[in-house]
Amino acid sequence: MTGQQVQDHYSTDDIASRVLAAARDAIGPDAPLTPDALAPIDHFHGGGLAATRDLVALLQPRAGERLLDIGSGIGGPARWIAAGFGCHVTGIDLTTAFCRAAEALGEATGMSSQVRIVEGSALDLPFEANSFDRAYSQNVVMNIADKPQFYREALRVLRPGGVLALSNVAAGPAGPPYYPVPWASSAATSFLSTPEATRNELVAAGFQIVSFEDTTAKSLAARKALRARLESEGLPPLGFHVFMGSRAREFQINAARSQEKGRLASIEALVCKPA
Ligand SMILES: C[S@@+](CC[C@H](N)C(=O)[O-])C[C@H]1O[C@@H](n2cnc3c(N)ncnc32)[C@H](O)[C@@H]1O
Repeated sequence: MTGQQVQDHYSTDDIASRVLAAARDAIGPDAPLTPDALAPIDHFHGGGLAATRDLVALLQPRAGERLLDIGSGIGGPARWIAAGFGCHVTGIDLTTAFCRAAEALGEATGMSSQVRIVEGSALDLPFEANSFDRAYSQNVVMNIADKPQFYREALRVLRPGGVLALSNVAAGPAGPPYYPVPWASSAATSFLSTPEATRNELVAAGFQIVSFEDTTAKSLAARKALRARLESEGLPPLGFHVFMGSRAREFQINAARSQEKGRLASIEALVCKPA
């Protein structure tokens, strides 16, 4: 049931057409549709492309490697990493509408041969053990109640010595966030662990911690800046509202407000499957 509620929160119609039309308006009719050109829309997490760059600095992907993006959304990070680093990225996501959009945007950007999209659950990954060199997940586990299973599945599909980079929204000390937020319309599909609990969950699943950073102050600054822009200038031409609708403004303002009040935190981590 929770899976359907998660999909209901994220699903809208004609996502790829709307993203492509907005991007064309912004870049002009003849400019190439590259992963960089779509980046203001299709990195669907609080810090946008800057946050993906931070995660990639941890992940250090190399040409020819097999990467897994767990909860790949409409595929922006997968296309951007595949294009920039020459990797093969498999993105898996629960939300059918996002998977179809990711496939269409892969075609439109010429990235289909490097980015494969699979519809499915992070809790039951349809991949053999030891299939991937590296994996990453950005702003996904807050939709996952069964975090031990999420991390066990990530561990299983990584090769020994393979790494998982995580960027997670986490629970703050001052209580639950103000809903709706970008990942959930209500508490029914929002499951936040504190930074400390997250670290423990990763170790319990069998990962070794390579690095673990509480990034709450950094993400607070980004969310505050975004809130100020939304309140003074309104929605920009390119942003999540293109596919999430005008409710995206309330989502983002609530996320910023929640974090300002100590109701949200965030972490970035790199963890390793023991060799
Ligand atoms: C906030 S979006 C982030 C998307 C993407 N990681 C990005 O940063 O652009 C969260 C994503 O997690 C996906 N998701 C939630 N629960 C999932 C599950 N159990 N298995 C796979 N994907 C899931 C949602 O469908 C959604 O696409």
